[in-house]
Amino acid sequence: MLTTIIYRSHICDNVPVKTLEEMVDAANNKNGYADVTGILLFNGTHFFQLLEGPEESVLTIYRHICEDVRHYNVVELLRDYAPARRFGKAGMELFDLREHDSNQVLQTVLDKGTSKYQLTYDDRALQFFRTFVEAREKENYFEIPEADSWDFVADDSAVAPVTTPSGHCSFAFQPIIDPLAQEVVSLEALLRTPDGDSPQAWFAGLAAEDVYDADLKSKSVAFAMAAALDLGKQSLSVNLLPMTLVKIPGAVAFLVEEIHKNGLVPDQIIVEFTEQEIISRLEEFTGAIRQLKAAGIRVAIDHFGAGFAGLSLLARFQPERIKINRELIEDVHKSGPRQAIILGIIKSCTSLEISVCAVGVEKPEEWMWLESAGISLFQGHLFARPAFAGIPAVAWPEKRSGF
Ligand SMILES: Cc1cc2nc3c(=O)[nH]c(=O)nc-3n(C[C@H](O)[C@H](O)[C@H](O)COP(=O)(O)O)c2cc1C
Repeated sequence: MLTTIIYRSHICDNVPVKTLEEMVDAANNKNGYADVTGILLFNGTHFFQLLEGPEESVLTIYRHICEDVRHYNVVELLRDYAPARRFGKAGMELFDLREHDSNQVLQTVLDKGTSKYQLTYDDRALQFFRTFVEAREKENYFEIPEADSWDFVADDSAVAPVTTPSGHCSFAFQPIIDPLAQEVVSLEALLRTPDGDSPQAWFAGLAAEDVYDADLKSKSVAFAMAAALDLGKQSLSVNLLPMTLVKIPGAVAFLVEEIHKNGLVPDQIIVEFTEQEIISRLEEFTGAIRQLKAAGIRVAIDHFGAGFAGLSLLARFQPERIKINRELIEDVHKSGPRQAIILGIIKSCTSLEISVCAVGVEKPEEWMWLESAGISLFQGHLFARPAFAGIPAVAWPEKRSGF
């Protein structure tokens, strides 16, 4: 099947532009051999390349290109299938935008296309050309430095594990941080079995009719452990199944009582709900949210972007915080679609004064891209892994000298 890949990247400072012709000659040969065709645009700082051909050949060549040290910040913009080649005349052709009249440059590029596509302006791939040539999305090109430009230095804030007050369940704690302000913003209590096994393992050990009651009661363990860990005024996030609020009468009153019993205050508690579970009984759930808010407890939506409702959920009720799912965070620095979705989420949440937290951050490049995009709250192994019954040290980013 005929596959198309379009990406953009930034040329490295140490690459003389005159060596590009040579590179393109070699690429032209290799592409011709693999039945891959395409065009490479260059504007003095950025490349924009379209590759098309048999899927496996295109993917192999693209893999090599991504590893090439002559450019960086390679962001894939489109990966799609097409009935015919758009630029089928050459294995690879370099087109330097600076050598052409800016009013005609787009048409000149498109004239290099293969006949069927020459005038098809509504083709997505050609719209990407237009956007690049006209530098329309340039404000969203976040040029992030190399991964090793930061050291992640662990502090001495770890707190040793406390004993779990009940035999039924336990919790691990993971910080949510603002890395540049060097501030722990919240701690999330993550449900575990008494042996430290996953929440899935804990729920699997319950009879179906006990799930919601057990879910609610487990929060008293979380609050008691937080008190034993001497949380002070630190805010604490706990997870709740949305249906727990709907099905268990007096659930909110129970939570408030347990919060006070453990020397905490409702204002420091954030209850997180998973997006996918919220949707099935939205009406009843919205009522329960009102009760939580009236009690002074804040609300967050977890795994945002993973389910079906997405942004439309923000029109139904407005949480204090949303947490963007790992699925969207993973390799965001390389993915145009993920970048576009996250920028959309940030824009909506900024308008609504909802804070945005990126979850599951593992790579320095993911953090750097997200930070450049305007996110300041992070949770993930890059900074701190969850600590069973205790609080982990936080590894704060420190710029390496020379960067
Ligand atoms: C902006 C840019 C575009 C490139 N385009 C191609 C291309 O279309 N085809 C290709 O074979 N190599 C291309 N290369 C070069 C590859 O990255 C790589 O150097 C080449 O495939 C040789 O790989 P090899 O030495 O592992 O065989 C490009 C490099 C850059 C920086």
